[in-house]
Amino acid sequence: MSDFSTRLIAWQRQHGRHDLPWQNTRDPYRIWLSEIMLQQTQVSTVIPYYAKFLARFPSVAALAAAPSDDVMALWAGLGYYTRARNLHRCAQVVVEQHGGAFPASVEELAELPGIGRSTAAAIASFAFGARATILDGNVKRVLARVFGVEGFPGEKKVENAMWTLAESLLPSNASDAEVSAYTQGLMDLGATLCVRGKPDCLRCPFAADCVANVTGRQRLLPTARPKKTVPTRSTWMLVLRDGNAVMLEKRPPSGIWGGLWSLPEAADESALAERARAFGGDGAVAPLAPLTHVFTHFKLDIEPRLAQLDRGVGALAALADGDTAWVALSDLDSFGVPAPVRKLLDSLQGSLI
Ligand code: ADE
Repeated sequence: MSDFSTRLIAWQRQHGRHDLPWQNTRDPYRIWLSEIMLQQTQVSTVIPYYAKFLARFPSVAALAAAPSDDVMALWAGLGYYTRARNLHRCAQVVVEQHGGAFPASVEELAELPGIGRSTAAAIASFAFGARATILDGNVKRVLARVFGVEGFPGEKKVENAMWTLAESLLPSNASDAEVSAYTQGLMDLGATLCVRGKPDCLRCPFAADCVANVTGRQRLLPTARPKKTVPTRSTWMLVLRDGNAVMLEKRPPSGIWGGLWSLPEAADESALAERARAFGGDGAVAPLAPLTHVFTHFKLDIEPRLAQLDRGVGALAALADGDTAWVALSDLDSFGVPAPVRKLLDSLQGSLI
């Protein structure tokens, strides 16, 4: 898309936000203060704090000279208090090392306490018209959707690719006002239309070209944080069946499914055949469809095997003891059976003999 910045600037001018308290100024102190407050906090929460800070500390020198307790007390309620400590330190560095004037370059701004690459770019573009791109969470969402960037943006490789993309999209030969409108446009699009839950694609200037919109993948972009991989355990389960009855075994009181009635288990197929023999089978076992159950901390791969007896109900009782029971498939409701085992057993209902 060659005209991304042109279209974004035009959209921002018509539909973006223009009357936020920190707009319509080029005072780096005010812009910096707002950007720090807005790092992890939404606009409506920031507005009264921004006003209070400006009233109490009208300049970076006033803030630098304030006792730390006063700064912290005024910040109370905004959260993420490292921001307040860095804010105070940053004001002092600006006074002591920069003569009370914020530096104009992204590189120098990014050296200051509490100012990362994206915040430095926001300040530099709003205050000094610098051609520098921001890339916060909202912008990552916009870029991932419009350009179909795959991969979790918190991952370094993906984030680097997004910085490169964001930089390539910056307007060239732009006036200071256009640079500001562009930066604000990225923020506004992400905050007002291209929102996480239910993006308003009908109003979006990029709807016709947006990869996510065109392919209906708004919910899949940006790619979600990968799920932690959990360890896998495997077990073999014996479906020992006689007529319509199946043998259940009571699990030990602690551990997974503690105290529930489940199928007899073994660590491998031959041990399972051995157990089938011990229960009166001839050792022949037939495979059933494997299943996987996901617990909080691990995944359980289950290999079920079917062994068929032909003894008749009367003889079965003798094969059971306190920890095992022959249960009719139609009577499973009277036993506490783990959900995946119950599903497996239900799938046998009406099948076979
Ligand atoms: N979020 C971060 N910076 C912002 C700004 N300048 N205006 C609105 N929301 C923002």
